[in-house]
Amino acid sequence: MSRTGLALDGMGSLRRTHACGDITSALEGQEVVLAGWVQRRRDHGGVIFVDLRDRSGDLVQVVFKPEVAAEAHEKAGNLRGEWVILARGRVERRSADTINPKMKTGEVEVNVDELRLLNSATPPPFPIEEETDADEAVRLRHRIHDLRRPPLQRSLATRHTLYQSARRTLTELGFLEIDTPMLARATPEGARDFLVPSRLQPGEFYALPQSPQILKQLLMVAGFDRYFQIARCFRDEDQRADRQLEFSQIDLEMSFVGVEDVLAVLEEVTQRVTRDAVGAELETPFRRISYADAMARYGIDRPDTRIQLELTELTDVFAGSGFKAFRGAVDAGGIVKCLHIADADELSRSEIDRLESFVKKELGGKGLGWIRIKEDGEWQSPIVKFLSEEEKKQIAERTGAVPKSLIFFQADEFERANMILARLRVDLGRRLGRVDGRDWDALLVVDFPLFERDEKGGLTHMHMPFVAPLEEDIPLLDSAPEKVRGSHYDVVVNGVELGSGSLRNHRTDIQRRVLEIMGYDAEQQEHAFGFMLRSLETGAPPHGGFAFGVERWMMVLIDSENMRDVVAFPKTQRGQDLLMEAPSTVTPEQLDELALRVRAPRKSG
Ligand code: AMO
Ligand code: AMP
Repeated sequence: MSRTGLALDGMGSLRRTHACGDITSALEGQEVVLAGWVQRRRDHGGVIFVDLRDRSGDLVQVVFKPEVAAEAHEKAGNLRGEWVILARGRVERRSADTINPKMKTGEVEVNVDELRLLNSATPPPFPIEEETDADEAVRLRHRIHDLRRPPLQRSLATRHTLYQSARRTLTELGFLEIDTPMLARATPEGARDFLVPSRLQPGEFYALPQSPQILKQLLMVAGFDRYFQIARCFRDEDQRADRQLEFSQIDLEMSFVGVEDVLAVLEEVTQRVTRDAVGAELETPFRRISYADAMARYGIDRPDTRIQLELTELTDVFAGSGFKAFRGAVDAGGIVKCLHIADADELSRSEIDRLESFVKKELGGKGLGWIRIKEDGEWQSPIVKFLSEEEKKQIAERTGAVPKSLIFFQADEFERANMILARLRVDLGRRLGRVDGRDWDALLVVDFPLFERDEKGGLTHMHMPFVAPLEEDIPLLDSAPEKVRGSHYDVVVNGVELGSGSLRNHRTDIQRRVLEIMGYDAEQQEHAFGFMLRSLETGAPPHGGFAFGVERWMMVLIDSENMRDVVAFPKTQRGQDLLMEAPSTVTPEQLDELALRVRAPRKSG
């Protein structure tokens, strides 16, 4: 009996012969067996029509006629959305007036002789359709229903293809797939670790890996030469649209290579996997851009260069300026930069005002200076009264501003000024259609600095502690460490960082020197990295590698802004799985076994 009191059937010996999407006029006259979920039921004067759905994503119309099969027809009268059925019948051409050209299966229908009611179902909380306007929290709580929607079925199928293609491609290139442990040791890699208490060693903790970084390096030391893994990674970071607490990397490492060797592999893998997953063709070689150039022209190290707007630096122009807001930023070690948009009359004054309040409220900017050059050449602007003739001349010359130009300014710290202008560049570039027609923009970003300043003014690693300096910059480690370029590289597609990598320090003297510059004394080096440094000393070959973020890559491939659309069971902004209701409390016995006590949970604000 089902929960509705109806008798349920077994499958018996009846087995599916086709997917719903296979049912086309080519099968006319043939007997087929279909299995799936009821999308909807319509009763038309004694005849019952059911749209049946399965993984193929295509619906097929199955028809129950009392004169063909009285029993099946009677059962069909009870069917509701999402009930699970098995139906045997004959493929028939629809009458001309009922053909549905929008459906792949729309020329035919299946006239059913036998219906098996395999299961009833609770009513879906929202329609199982291509588009939904259901709130995301509702979708996540009812993830099973959400996953039945065609876009999510397609997304996870594409993700499967991506995985298979990566495995095939890397295998062909001589990489071995090797697992590394999930229960690992806490290491300072950047994000906060997820800790797992040990029962066997009370009071001690494993850490879930932020990435297999150290272990893949050790596999190179152990002589495996080329490694890859589809690795689960865990980072206890604040969530953003492009971050999940757990995510997957296609992680790889190679021995006896320089930067060019790794980049050649990355281009090939990126190109082949993208082709296999969505049939798109990325042009190789990928265009290269240095970190410095990317920051200067686009304000970001992962530019979408399809957008035809660029930034202009003006810091030197305002070094001695009478305009306090700009000069103050320069005096404080910041920058003055601008975004020039030609032919921008379309942007109204009220739109500019809205942009200014967006910049202040959402992006933390101090203001948004702007100058509009009117058709008659007059400068209209809230800041022009503060500018000298020379400053105006420099602005015009460097940006190439002409009548109908609009220029937006930021005077702020390097990071914030660039972040704000980079955001405006993308938003306004799209809004005004300043986009070249290319579907795909693949870049290699190279020549990142090895170090950056931390809040206390000391040097810290820009990416992670094991990145090797470029060979020619090694002498600078002692004389001018802030000028040292790292061997780091990123693959950026359509403005999304798909992944990043570098050559690593295989020589312990250089690795120790890098750690020293970052303020680790010998004892701290031993505590944090002892096992790694000793392993390198057993004969480490030169090596380097890379990790693609699978979810980021998927978002680019299916052109989604929402990482949760490429993950089967994702977590919310607050790190919760609303379906499983994780995280959850555990029993006092479980805590006892782990020698743990929980303080009353602090109320978060
Ligand atoms: P990195 O930390 O840059 O490098 O990570 C590599 C790629 O992983 C993806 N990624 C994420 N995806 C979803 N959610 C997150 N929270 C998240 N964090 C990172 C991004 C990123 O480019 N071990 C090094 C790689 C190496 O040097 O070989 C590493 O993990 O796409
Ligand atoms: P104020 O003199 O503060 O009223 O600013 C005059 C104009 O300059 C306003 O349009 C502000 O938005 C803009 N402005 C002020 N500070 C900055 C800054 N740091 N960067 C860019 N524009 C600014």
